Amino acid sequence: ASRPRVLSGIQPTADSYHLGNFLGAVRNWVAMQDDYDAFYCVVDLHAITSGHDPKLLRERTRVSIAQLLALGLDPARCTLFVQSHVPEHAQLGWVMGCITGFGEASRMTQFKDKSSKQGAERSSVGLFTYPILQAADILLYHADRVPVGEDQRQHLELTRDLAQRFNTLFGDTFTVPQPHIIKETAKIVDLQDPTAKMSKSASTANGLVELLEEPAKAAKKIKSAVTDTGREIIFDAENKPGVSNLLTIYSALSGRSISELVSAYDGKGYGDLKKDLAEVVVEFITPIQKRTKEYLDDPGQLDKVLAIGADKARNVAAPTLAKVYDRIGF
Ligand code: ADP
Ligand code: NA
Repeated sequence: ASRPRVLSGIQPTADSYHLGNFLGAVRNWVAMQDDYDAFYCVVDLHAITSGHDPKLLRERTRVSIAQLLALGLDPARCTLFVQSHVPEHAQLGWVMGCITGFGEASRMTQFKDKSSKQGAERSSVGLFTYPILQAADILLYHADRVPVGEDQRQHLELTRDLAQRFNTLFGDTFTVPQPHIIKETAKIVDLQDPTAKMSKSASTANGLVELLEEPAKAAKKIKSAVTDTGREIIFDAENKPGVSNLLTIYSALSGRSISELVSAYDGKGYGDLKKDLAEVVVEFITPIQKRTKEYLDDPGQLDKVLAIGADKARNVAAPTLAKVYDRIGF
């Protein structure tokens, strides 16, 4: 039997991914490369929905791909590509938009959240139709599974509805994707405010560790992370979110289990834990930075990786779009 296909995307909007992006998403992508027929894309079409700088976007797309390669995505074992390199995404997005109800799209809570922050009047139509493009991203590849966090569940539900609707209207065309829930996925919280998630858009500079930041700076952030009252190093995400977050990061980066760490730190203080974790983080990000730089320093090689990824993706996307066009009478 062939391996189930997964598709996942990540925005290129930041200068560097942070520990949350790696531990909550990219780490799982790396782990899925062999058991799944994995398609991963840097979604630059989605990155222009709320205003952007062209020069920065171009740089960030390349830095994002370089980081994903440095983190362990292997173009020989997965299909890694940039969304805009495959024009079928935008083409299918249009078709799917034409079978989406305006009211249905209006119910997407992520749009409501984002547009209320920006001011509804100033929000772009692209931000509004974002989930429809996302449906096209998934359906083009007949993905069986889509890794989703809570915040993306509604969008995947829309994707499933649109796939079923198209199939009913025009004949069986799309695979209806299932959510792929990864139980052990870590949710990393802000180092300064453990009640909030670590986030590029929401965290203050000291609240997040970026993979590409100065290692000494990253170490300092870990050492000055907010911990909880009490002195005991135990895992209790509810009552001790700060310490538990440090243990989660420590465990994920070192491969040591939480319970092993808890016994190792029995009788020791928060300072000891933070000092050791700072070292673990530095040891993790230093080679990532070196490899990212190597990819960026060889633009010809990176272009080649991107061209191969786009080709592999188009080999699947183009026949899907051709079938769709045929079905709808083009
Ligand atoms: P940000 O919140 O920094 O803007 P994105 O929303 O672009 O990050 O998320 C990119 C990917 O990283 C998503 O799959 C998301 O679930 C994951 N992710 C982001 N922040 C965290 C976090 N703090 N913990 C776990 N996963 C995260
Ligand atoms: Na976000």
